[in-house]
Amino acid sequence: MSADVIDGKAFAAGLKQDVARQVAVLKEKYDLTPGLAVVLVGEDPASQIYVRNKNKSTKESGMNGFEYRRDPDISEAELLGLVKKLNEDPLVHGILVQLPLPGHINEAAVIDAISPAKDVDGFHVINSGLLATGGQGLVPCTPLGCVMMLKGRLGNMSGLNAVIVGRSNIVGKPMAQLLLNENCTVTVAHSRTRNLDAVVRGADIVVAAVGVAELVKGSWIRDGATVIDVGINRIEKADGKTRLVGDVEYAEAVKHAGAITPVPGGVGPMTIAVLLKNTVTAACRQAGVEEPEI
Ligand code: GUN
Repeated sequence: MSADVIDGKAFAAGLKQDVARQVAVLKEKYDLTPGLAVVLVGEDPASQIYVRNKNKSTKESGMNGFEYRRDPDISEAELLGLVKKLNEDPLVHGILVQLPLPGHINEAAVIDAISPAKDVDGFHVINSGLLATGGQGLVPCTPLGCVMMLKGRLGNMSGLNAVIVGRSNIVGKPMAQLLLNENCTVTVAHSRTRNLDAVVRGADIVVAAVGVAELVKGSWIRDGATVIDVGINRIEKADGKTRLVGDVEYAEAVKHAGAITPVPGGVGPMTIAVLLKNTVTAACRQAGVEEPEI
């Protein structure tokens, strides 16, 4: 048996088209152009690529994209001042401060300063609290993208056993809340979990978001399970070149799973598409208009 490969690029392309249609309706009906401001501090090469891609996708969808680049030695007070200015800017409906920030800046303080209504990352405690209590906040992009792909593949997930490997605030914890909302039976495993193999063997759905290359062995995957691999790890090959691998041992898992996301080309492309979607949602709520149907 060989698993179906879940094509994240195709899912993302579909969602981006939906967003572009929503943006066109908002402009036409309400003269409303959603705007996303992305803030990059420093020159981390990976962050620069992410930010460039986010801004390019924002503009391609018809929205306004605002990019703010700041030197790595910016003070926390100056960065908080920029966030305050963006909170008050009526053309900006979504604010994303690219993480990680330099060590002298308190990330939690910066996230806390973003207006929850504009927090398109869904990292603010108000938004995580709303997700945990069934309210209508903004939901972190990566886990929301994973749930969209799972729903696309499985439809109704009620009663399925979902095992999430990883308990980060950005992926693992919100993923658990989202899958509970889908009526899954959810287990959150992590680096201290005993008998991780046995836990994963019981899963109909495996979400690996632990940040350790190929930690989840393919032989642990139950026949027919759906596997979502959030990991992006660069490993060195014998010839000295590097390659990207996920948190799941793909070559073996693909023999057992019913469906699996590849790395790259699985979860990654969905994250930016959901960011655009969240920006539309935020803009509609701020303007007090109904989000256009897709
Ligand atoms: N750095 C890596 N991924 C993300 C993300 O989803 N949001 C932000 N703000 N920073 C990141």
